[in-house]
Amino acid sequence: MSHDKPNDQVEDKLYGLLAEYESPGALIEAANEVRKAGYTKFDCHSPFPVHGIDPAMGIKPTILPVIVWAAGIAGLGLAILMQTWMNNWTYPWNIGGKPLFSLPMQIPIAFEVTVLLAAFATFFGMWGLNKLPQLWHPLFGNDRFVEKAMCHGFFVAIEAEDPKFDDEATKATLQEAGATAIEEVRYKTSKKHRALPNGVIAFMVMSVCLALVPFAYIAKKRASKSDKPHIHVVPNMDFQAKAKPQAASNMFPDGRASRVPVEGSVARGELKADDHFYRGITGGEWATEFPKEIALSAETMERGQNRFDIYCAPCHGLNGAGAGMINQRAEAVGATATGWVAPSNIGQESFAKQPHGQLFNTVGHGIRSMPGYGSQIREADRWAIVFYLRALQRSAHSTIDDVPAGDKPAIR
Ligand code: HEC
Repeated sequence: MSHDKPNDQVEDKLYGLLAEYESPGALIEAANEVRKAGYTKFDCHSPFPVHGIDPAMGIKPTILPVIVWAAGIAGLGLAILMQTWMNNWTYPWNIGGKPLFSLPMQIPIAFEVTVLLAAFATFFGMWGLNKLPQLWHPLFGNDRFVEKAMCHGFFVAIEAEDPKFDDEATKATLQEAGATAIEEVRYKTSKKHRALPNGVIAFMVMSVCLALVPFAYIAKKRASKSDKPHIHVVPNMDFQAKAKPQAASNMFPDGRASRVPVEGSVARGELKADDHFYRGITGGEWATEFPKEIALSAETMERGQNRFDIYCAPCHGLNGAGAGMINQRAEAVGATATGWVAPSNIGQESFAKQPHGQLFNTVGHGIRSMPGYGSQIREADRWAIVFYLRALQRSAHSTIDDVPAGDKPAIR
């Protein structure tokens, strides 16, 4: 089957001369001679890299490092410009009073972009400078070359396009340089010969079509509606067969995912059977004694003061008289006129007479407009606070007789 048209003339062209040499050393010698003879369009082929071949051929050092360096600098500048533009103009966010422009914080991204552009320049620069990809070469049509160039042949090929090329003279140069064989390399050229093979074209067309499939799929999905969840490329642990608290579930008749614990069930360590310790009740009445777990020591007193100063003083004041910062503020903004209830004066006689258990209950559950602190303060600490309340109440009614003899100031 041929698609040759009458006007598609097949030309038989001369690529150049191919000379074979004995050894890597001979190849270097030959390269030297050819270069000295003034040829510029020639190449050496060996199965492995031959040291010293570059200077012998007169190949200048590659400018790739310069390209890479320039790309790196460009990346660095670009990254700094980009970040400055974003931080100072498009999203000028004040984060904790830090300056909008600051070099140290730009280092990671500047570094990354520098490396990125330098890497691209290295990769594509190498391909470009080597004129890759090259799918075909006239030498591939030469049997000697194809047979030996990959294993044990050392070749010099001078192109016919070289200005100094002259069939006879060039042959002589190669011969003098010690060639063991010299061949003319010819190749056929026509429109058909220059065209890519059908297989390659089919492969390219297919690749392009396949590459478009994901985009077509995305475009279709974007334009249509679905009640199915989104495609989740990295699932992590986002979807688990579990019910979240407070979520709906049609598995149960009441439509709730959360289940009420079976009546009478108690979580481990949450029995709280001791009415005295946990509720401040003994024999159905407010306890008048501290539970046995609470040591009535200076340490407990200190703990109680510490908790009181944190949780109670903001409203009741450090001395419990009711003039905490919150109350002062409420008075300052005139909240008293709109129903503000002032915190009680804990030192008051009536509270001093309350049983320990009742005060304990007030701390945990609150009273009227005072909120409860049971969720923040564990029982032992609540009792310590009650212990400290006793000290506050005592000090609210103290007289000079309460001061130990040795500490009494001299009365003048
Ligand atoms: C948010 C402010 C606020 C905080 C914090 C607060 N209280 Fe109160 N407390 C009040 C108010 C207001 C009242 C008066 C409630 C009423 O009469 O409606 C009150 C009343 C009381 C009373 C009197 C109870 C009674 O029987 O009338 C006691 C005792 C008391 N608080 C102790 C405490 C202790 C101990 C703490 C710390 C754990 C505390 N309060 C934390 C606002 C507060």
